[in-house]
Amino acid sequence: MSTVAPSNGFTHAPDLPALGLRPLHPSDLPQIERLDERAFGPGRFARTAYRLREGVGPDFALSFVAHVGTLLVGSNIMTPVKCGKPTRELVDVMLLGPLTVEPAFQSRGIGEALAARSLDAARVAGQKLVLLVGDEPYYARLGFKRAPYGRLVLPGPVDPARVLVCELAPGAFEGVAGVVLKTT
Ligand SMILES: CC(C)(COP(=O)(O)OP(=O)(O)OC[C@H]1O[C@@H](n2cnc3c(N)ncnc32)[C@H](O)[C@@H]1OP(=O)(O)O)[C@@H](O)C(=O)NCCC(=O)NCCS
Repeated sequence: MSTVAPSNGFTHAPDLPALGLRPLHPSDLPQIERLDERAFGPGRFARTAYRLREGVGPDFALSFVAHVGTLLVGSNIMTPVKCGKPTRELVDVMLLGPLTVEPAFQSRGIGEALAARSLDAARVAGQKLVLLVGDEPYYARLGFKRAPYGRLVLPGPVDPARVLVCELAPGAFEGVAGVVLKTT
């Protein structure tokens, strides 16, 4: 377990001295399920990003939970997906989310710290590209940009303005286009 270090260049530094981040453990999943139920409701199962995660386990080393003592107050899940054109070799991409923070603990920098920790871990693990479906005004601060319209095709309806990518290595998104597929 580690305590969140002061923010280095992030716009929000977690302001809870007792806050810790640690990698996701399988025993956290029921608690996270309840948190996501409260945050997203039953509609979460119909979300296109959910289809990419369905039946695929999270990457436990790249996913993190935030805790205050034994209380889980937030989580971010990272799931491997593939992207590309059927005629070409598919590219490994990490799907970020759901990123969820317990309502009473929101706006203290926890969401940003969780996502930033996952991005750092992914970079260290040699991942080059991260994808998510979410709000650009929130995720831009973490380095996400809107994917050009039509370049990535997800397995369901999605607002193109919410398809965001983050290059963990310079130029990692160059030449990447096509369908985003669930890993099997
Ligand atoms: C989105 C979420 C994870 C942010 O967590 P958090 O710990 O509150 O985030 P941070 O403290 O890092 O950042 C808070 C800031 O981001 C802003 N923000 C939060 N959600 C935002 C959004 N969707 N778009 C733009 N800005 C947003 C807040 O207004 C706040 O701004 P302020 O500091 O100027 O008041 C949290 O609000 C949440 O769990 N929401 C419900 C689930 C969800 O929508 N998840 C994201 C989709 S995967």
